[in-house]
Amino acid sequence: MPNHLIQAGILGVGSYVPERILTNKELEQMVDTSDEWITTRTGIRERRIADPAVSTSDLAVRASRKALEHAGVKPEELDLIILTTCSKDMPLPAGACLVQTELGAHQAGAFDLEAGCSGFVYGLTIASQFIATGAMKRILVIGAEVLSRIINWQDRNTCVLFGDGAGAVVVGPVAPGEGILASRLSAEGAGWEHLYIPAGGAKMPADPVTVEKKLHYVHMNGKEVFRYATRVMEEESIHLIKAANLRLEDIDLLIPHQANIRIIEHAARKLKLPMEKVVVNLDRYGNTSSASIPLALDEAVKSGRVKAGDNIVMVAFGAGLTSGGIVLKWSKGEGESNET
Ligand code: ACO
Repeated sequence: MPNHLIQAGILGVGSYVPERILTNKELEQMVDTSDEWITTRTGIRERRIADPAVSTSDLAVRASRKALEHAGVKPEELDLIILTTCSKDMPLPAGACLVQTELGAHQAGAFDLEAGCSGFVYGLTIASQFIATGAMKRILVIGAEVLSRIINWQDRNTCVLFGDGAGAVVVGPVAPGEGILASRLSAEGAGWEHLYIPAGGAKMPADPVTVEKKLHYVHMNGKEVFRYATRVMEEESIHLIKAANLRLEDIDLLIPHQANIRIIEHAARKLKLPMEKVVVNLDRYGNTSSASIPLALDEAVKSGRVKAGDNIVMVAFGAGLTSGGIVLKWSKGEGESNET
């Protein structure tokens, strides 16, 4: 192990969403809601839904292949695969193991990480530690979700919010001063009951009664989550920017967790960031939980919105309740910027 820390950054990014689009208009036929309500209260217009035969690890594999190709890294070069998800294929084993065998990443360790919608920034932070110490050189961090399977499609409070998708990044060493400049992981476990799935685990194993009562679906206190989100998105961002030795005006791009446009606009206002500096794609995908930030990052990179040297803040909140973020200087060695 080297006696100095190595800078970790993103070498490549990729994403995948299912083709099937579910619009707000279609939801009007399913629950007592309206396109107008969903659009004005959340900013979401449509979301993607995975085919019945497709599961979370399948989306993860598709996004990962694109990230590996973008990074110019072969699956067998990977040291570790971290799959962040709250809609894993099966309770056991880790979905990351299914991804590992499907990709042919035979040298890689593999595990799942669950931190609600903050999963991706948690995973990226963990990956960066292994790179920093020199213990590993190539790590795949994936956020993938098939939330449509854990949502009660008769509950209008939740079913209009979520969608399916996946995003992935390859993490590795970059030049000093580039890549991940700061990261932060936070949790307020006292709020766990504001967003949870009551049944299907050891606390309340699934049985006919839990199934009948739909306790194996997401239950959410939307108002409390909203309150938490508006507070922590601002707090986390300010802590992160300070920890990276940057000022608010140094930030080129904010990539927030895509849950609700009102939460995002509130954070941008508090941080005095014009919306041109904020990546928003929730209108097309809804809340894809741990996939939302890598999906938005991929779109921003591939559309040329990210330039070498840009300071990017990624900030998330989610079930747990958890929050956290990353400040990243997009390096010349990273993704598209390499070619410009
Ligand atoms: N269509 C029509 N009406 C609805 C719908 C709907 N889909 N959903 C709720 N309503 C009704 C409510 O029943 C309520 O009616 P009432 O006043 O008669 O009781 C009314 O609309 C207003 O409800 P509010 O909860 O006050 O609406 P609000 O403006 O707070 O928006 C929302 C609700 C969108 C859920 C908001 O609170 C929110 O975005 N919260 C954060 C949720 C979130 O981000 N969750 C994901 C976290 S990340 C993770 O880890 C998965």
